[in-house]
Amino acid sequence: MSERRPYVAANWKMQKTVSETEDFLDRFLGEIGDLADRDIVICPPFTSLATAAERSRRSPVKIAAQNMHDADEGAFTGEISAVMLTSIGVEAVILGHSERRTLFGETDEALARKLISAFGAGLEPILCIGESEDERENGKTEDVLRRQLEADLEPLTGEQLPSVVIAYEPIWAIGTGKTATPDEAEEAIAFVRSVVAARDAAAAEQVRILYGGSVKPGNAADLLGREGIDGALVGGASLDPADFLAICEAA
Ligand code: PGA
Repeated sequence: MSERRPYVAANWKMQKTVSETEDFLDRFLGEIGDLADRDIVICPPFTSLATAAERSRRSPVKIAAQNMHDADEGAFTGEISAVMLTSIGVEAVILGHSERRTLFGETDEALARKLISAFGAGLEPILCIGESEDERENGKTEDVLRRQLEADLEPLTGEQLPSVVIAYEPIWAIGTGKTATPDEAEEAIAFVRSVVAARDAAAAEQVRILYGGSVKPGNAADLLGREGIDGALVGGASLDPADFLAICEAA
């Protein structure tokens, strides 16, 4: 059996002002109690990161950004770099969320560079991968996952590979209320682990692989109880402190 530490991340997307972030953290941190045996990560929008990092400093919660640029600085209007994030106490970053891939043209080439830049700055990357509904219906799920993994992880060193957190998020399950069944999630995640194992078997045993897509308090235990599913990336249900806490407790 693996000894991978459970990992639960809240992806707030473009939601919550600074004062709403403060309200959430006051309630969430007040109730979190004894969950120090798992990684709990909150990913607010850029404007709330500094406040969130400050408020959660003496708590088990880590703060992550939802995106970053791969360069350290330069003429990239509207972008934020890894070192800017670490300078305010951010510890992790979501990379390659499907909304960024489909709505903002994020490419695997850029993601490979971002992963290297995140590691260079000491940020833990949470790499998102996943197939569309069309791709699943046409039997392309494994091809898509393999292609994304191989391209995105390609430049990582053998030392970096085990520290990537991978989130398997089928696009058809994100924000739709249409969760993958525990069987579907377990099968896809086992495949993801096998792709990592083809490159480095020891790294595959250590890599945390999360499920994301309409995770709620009511389905979290069934999904997170499955072999190989090490945690969850939670969107909608992470906006409410009680719901997110219930999911963290199920991990
Ligand atoms: P959801 O989002 O939980 O609202 O489906 C998950 C995600 O996009 O990370």
